[in-house]
Amino acid sequence: MAKSPSAQFVCQDCGAVTLKWAGKCESCGAWNSITEEAGRQEIPKGLSSGKGRRIEFVGLEGSSPPLPRMLTGIGELDRVCGGGLVPGSCLLVGGDPGIGKSTLLLQATAALSATAKIAYISGEEAVDQVRMRAVRLGHAKAKVALASATSLRDILASLDGSDAPDVVVIDSIQTVYADNIESAPGTVSQVRACSAELIRLAKQRGFVLFLVGHVTKDGQIAGPRVLEHMVDTVLYFEGDRGHQFRILRATKNRFGATDEIGVFEMTDRGLAEVANPSALFLAERRGNVSGSCVFAGMEGTRPMLVEIQALVAPSSLSSPRRAVVGWDTNRLSMVMAVLDARCGLALSGNDVYLNVAGGLRIAEPAADLAVAAALVSSASDVPVPADMVVFGEVGLSGEVRAVAQADTRLKEAAKLGFAQALVPARPRKDKGAGSGAGSLAIRSIGHLQDVLELFQPK
Ligand code: TYD
Ligand code: MG
Repeated sequence: MAKSPSAQFVCQDCGAVTLKWAGKCESCGAWNSITEEAGRQEIPKGLSSGKGRRIEFVGLEGSSPPLPRMLTGIGELDRVCGGGLVPGSCLLVGGDPGIGKSTLLLQATAALSATAKIAYISGEEAVDQVRMRAVRLGHAKAKVALASATSLRDILASLDGSDAPDVVVIDSIQTVYADNIESAPGTVSQVRACSAELIRLAKQRGFVLFLVGHVTKDGQIAGPRVLEHMVDTVLYFEGDRGHQFRILRATKNRFGATDEIGVFEMTDRGLAEVANPSALFLAERRGNVSGSCVFAGMEGTRPMLVEIQALVAPSSLSSPRRAVVGWDTNRLSMVMAVLDARCGLALSGNDVYLNVAGGLRIAEPAADLAVAAALVSSASDVPVPADMVVFGEVGLSGEVRAVAQADTRLKEAAKLGFAQALVPARPRKDKGAGSGAGSLAIRSIGHLQDVLELFQPK
């Protein structure tokens, strides 16, 4: 293939640019992700010698009006966004295909349309398809301006002007193309250029811009991670398609905290908010089964109780299976190693399965103790009491460490009718700690060995 002089090779995963094609990206290590794209942009020389306008510096102290916020009326979405949408900001919504991104945005814009002017541009679905979904969601009468378009030039021309909408949805950014760039839609150069133009217009006209982005097999927003740097907020819509729960998680937010999550349930009439996720996650739990343990976790400011299930079974394989759903595999290996080395519970000849029921993904180290309890309980076939919650971090010497917000966790457990809690011995010095446990019987654990003794076969 003759190489045009301005050709460049761009990794579709991380956006790194090279002059030669290679099978593996030097920068992020991805295989087969480098494609040729046209239009290398030379950095013009001599900028420093030219005449620029002096920029004006101001002090850190000063008065700025509080950010105006637009409320979508979908409480879970508003909270994840940091308390509503900020005009002029850009939100990237990523998630697996079919997880419900289009549904969520159609519901949000339909709710917003009562007070704001909406433009919903779909590059993936025909107008009729979107209409059909709106009918199903019961929003057929909502005043949402709908279009099916993919040309950036057309989109910009339609959104510019004094009658610009207040909220714009581009579903998805990978289908939009700029005709002055040779690469195919969805490539790094296209996605980057189209997003930059759309974001510029959003800032200029002050509308909220939602970009829907596809994700790759390993869960990154497809093509460019560069896109994540350009937008103000990155929301991931996750969940298992086999479950009806959907979790909306902010991984970046310039206007709020990133550890909040929104919980939804996919119903036949669209996404419904879940006000009390703990009750939902525990709804199908069967008490007094060995290997099951309720973990009192935190997601942002909200306590969230979930069931952790472990199954330890004798293995016929030379390297036994380890299967983990909803938790970190490395963390499981660590807990098992500590159980082995510090407490003498060897599981190396067993297959070990670990599952967080309901499709939630837990990232907190505070779940260590609950995982250990579930493993021990499964191995000894002694059930963890059905009315017990567990939390605590496990260190490499087997010590059980205190975790943050113990009080909030205990309060939620008491609220949901739990009677006992297995917690780290020394609570962290939180403000007002120890006051919220209420009727809970607290059992403090200093070392993982105590868990083994607790769930010993009689
Ligand atoms: P969709 O929003 O099209 O997903 P995405 O845009 O992320 O690709 O969601 C599609 C899925 O949601 C589809 O599998 C059907 C399901 N669904 C429902 O269960 N109930 C509904 O009311 C709607 C609109 C969709
Ligand atoms: Mg879609």
